[in-house]
Amino acid sequence: MEAEGWLADTRTSYDTVADSYSDFTREALAGETYLRAGLALFADLVNAVGAGPVVDVGCGPGHVAAHLHKLGVDVFGIDLSPAMIEIARREHPDLRFEVGSMTDLRLADASVIGLLAFWSLIHIPDDEIPTVLGHFRRVLRPGGPLLLGFHVGDESRLKTEGYGGHPMKVYVHRREPGRVAAWLRDAGFTVEAQMLLNPDDRVPGAILFARRPG
Ligand SMILES: C[S@@+](CC[C@H](N)C(=O)[O-])C[C@H]1O[C@@H](n2cnc3c(N)ncnc32)[C@H](O)[C@@H]1O
Repeated sequence: MEAEGWLADTRTSYDTVADSYSDFTREALAGETYLRAGLALFADLVNAVGAGPVVDVGCGPGHVAAHLHKLGVDVFGIDLSPAMIEIARREHPDLRFEVGSMTDLRLADASVIGLLAFWSLIHIPDDEIPTVLGHFRRVLRPGGPLLLGFHVGDESRLKTEGYGGHPMKVYVHRREPGRVAAWLRDAGFTVEAQMLLNPDDRVPGAILFARRPG
């Protein structure tokens, strides 16, 4: 996969931190009541659509996909970082994980009934968002739900280390939910709900539910 500079830097960065990131996140959902509620709602929405696969794009070490699997979702994961995918395969051998980029999503049209991107769109620059959301809409079956999770704010910063002090070179873009919702509408999605997480924190989170119209 040929990658532009920022994409290659993102991949190298997550390859570098993959082990420590998976240590940081392995049990993280246990303490995230509201995130778990959001994932349970997403599982309900997906299961209501019918049978078929759901993709977790930017799945990291696979803990969110594994959680969805426990909720009865037929889920597989895609991530830019080969090291993340290696860990995901090792830790969740019953699930399928593949290396790939959401900027060039190699899935067939209408091949998934649901799509989740949790804190992975945060690494995509503004000018690439329409391309990525275009892929998300294309691969989703009409009527299929989409769930996005991201950092709230309006600034972008270059993260130079993380997850135990390892070197990284990755841009992190914070976005206001209204801005993400507008991008989604422009890409042909219907926005259905949003949840603001930890609004009193310095950097709140948001999860946003949308759907490809049926
Ligand atoms: C902050 S981590 C989030 C991982 C996981 N979704 C979670 O909630 O813990 C961001 C992940 O997005 C992946 N990523 C970044 N850019 C990507 C891209 N263009 N395509 C696919 N995955 C990407 C990174 O490799 C990394 O695993």
